[in-house]
Amino acid sequence: MIFLTEKAPLQAFISEKKLQGKSIGFIPTMGALHKGHLSLIATAQKKNDFVVVSIFVNPTQFDKEEDLINYPQTLNADRKLLENISCDVLFYPSVEEIYQNTITSKSFYFDGLEHKMEGKFREGHFNGVGTVVKTLFEIVNPDVAYFGEKDFQQLQIIKKMVQKHNLKIQIEGCPIFREKDGLAMSSRNVRLEKQQRKAAPFIYKTLLKASKKFSEHKASEILIWVKEEFKKQPLLTLEYFTIADEETLESIQTKENNKNYRAFIAVFAGNIRLIDNIKLKHS
Ligand code: PAF
Repeated sequence: MIFLTEKAPLQAFISEKKLQGKSIGFIPTMGALHKGHLSLIATAQKKNDFVVVSIFVNPTQFDKEEDLINYPQTLNADRKLLENISCDVLFYPSVEEIYQNTITSKSFYFDGLEHKMEGKFREGHFNGVGTVVKTLFEIVNPDVAYFGEKDFQQLQIIKKMVQKHNLKIQIEGCPIFREKDGLAMSSRNVRLEKQQRKAAPFIYKTLLKASKKFSEHKASEILIWVKEEFKKQPLLTLEYFTIADEETLESIQTKENNKNYRAFIAVFAGNIRLIDNIKLKHS
């Protein structure tokens, strides 16, 4: 595996491969790699000639300094994992390489998707994500980029960015990878204390029950039920639960037959924030 920290040699490598007619798959990450990331990479490897993974803990997408400082950084382990699965290139830029001297995000308009859910609770988060992903896309110039559906809102926002900026990149969403007990895989899970880790699968269990209720109950009734369920969980604090249209991310009151819906949730275990979502079936 080629390990690069600067954009110039990466761009030279990619230009050469593109001249040879090779396709490039790209997985941007913030490191602390887990099986969810590895599944994205495996999908990219099946469908592309070369796969580039980036690890960059992006400061502008954190709304809380504490969350940025505590974000797990496990470069050596990540590098070994990537070598074991024969990833072609690991790009590990410094903050200066990405932002030069001004560590600020650009302002994006994603047709209002940025103000819903995560955007409502994490000030400036999607401007930070948009800034770094666009910069990484400009450097890597991939044919296809892969994102996990755990961050479904992020996935929709990146699709919107590609469309609005006319980028010639295909965006592929990949299914959520879960631990055996249902907890959605996340780099943040390693920060959970033992008791919090034991309590956390309740999030997915609740989503599953909510999805079963969806065919017979109104969204507002399910929201009340979810709030009550979390009141019984001393180690978990519900930040939001909503049932929303997959395209507009608008919370719904009534179901329409030709629309696709998902339930979205954000929960605190201590100061660790966990998110998850589930696709809903309705008749
Ligand atoms: O999903 C993530 O890990 C990050 O938001 C991303 C897409 C790598 C941008 O920093």
